[in-house]
Amino acid sequence: MKRPFRKALLLMLLVAPVASCRQDMYDEPRYEPLESSPLFDDGASARPLPPGTVPVGHLRDDDHLDRALVAGEPAPDLPLTLTPELLARGRRQFNIFCSPCHGAAGYGDGMVVRRGFPPPPSFHQPRLRAATPGYLFDVITNGYGIMYSYAARLKPEDRWAVAGYVKALQLSQHARLDDVPESERPRLTEGES
Ligand code: HEC
Repeated sequence: MKRPFRKALLLMLLVAPVASCRQDMYDEPRYEPLESSPLFDDGASARPLPPGTVPVGHLRDDDHLDRALVAGEPAPDLPLTLTPELLARGRRQFNIFCSPCHGAAGYGDGMVVRRGFPPPPSFHQPRLRAATPGYLFDVITNGYGIMYSYAARLKPEDRWAVAGYVKALQLSQHARLDDVPESERPRLTEGES
């Protein structure tokens, strides 16, 4: 046998007993999933969560932000400051989650509807124009009629962003020149010849 091979063989023989130590860890005393245990009165090793346990980062204890309620009543306004960033976020989420049915401008003529899905009402009808952002938050959270809930897809902050954006969409369809600050008006005709 050549020297390097002999060395390698020796090394393997030395390492073999060390490697077998792993077996101890493999067989360590522990419960298999749902195995019984004499330690607890109910005999179950899988323990229920103590009451009030909340996953880190998921404590939802802000009535206004999480449930659109202020002192138990429907919130009249947003719990967040309506910044251009929040509106941009709302537009993004609206275009992803709502526009397939409600249409990009909110007339209820999205692509899914054009392919036969029951049309939602236009956001520009008087009843929905009068709806508060909190009402929109509620529809997104709980669904409405045949529209299902978006609570699992949109976190509360994003639901408010979408609600704010829908209000902006509604305003955009009924805006008057007076609503536009003087300094911004030249931009309205930008691109026109
Ligand atoms: C799969 C299609 C679909 C999607 C996606 C969808 N909606 Fe709807 N939505 C509907 C339909 C259909 C109705 C009418 C339901 C009814 O009257 O039974 C409706 C109704 C509404 C209403 C009116 C409630 C009322 O009082 O009449 C609002 C507001 C609304 N949706 C907001 C949203 C927002 C915001 C999103 C995105 C987060 C969204 N929807 C996503 C289909 C959809």
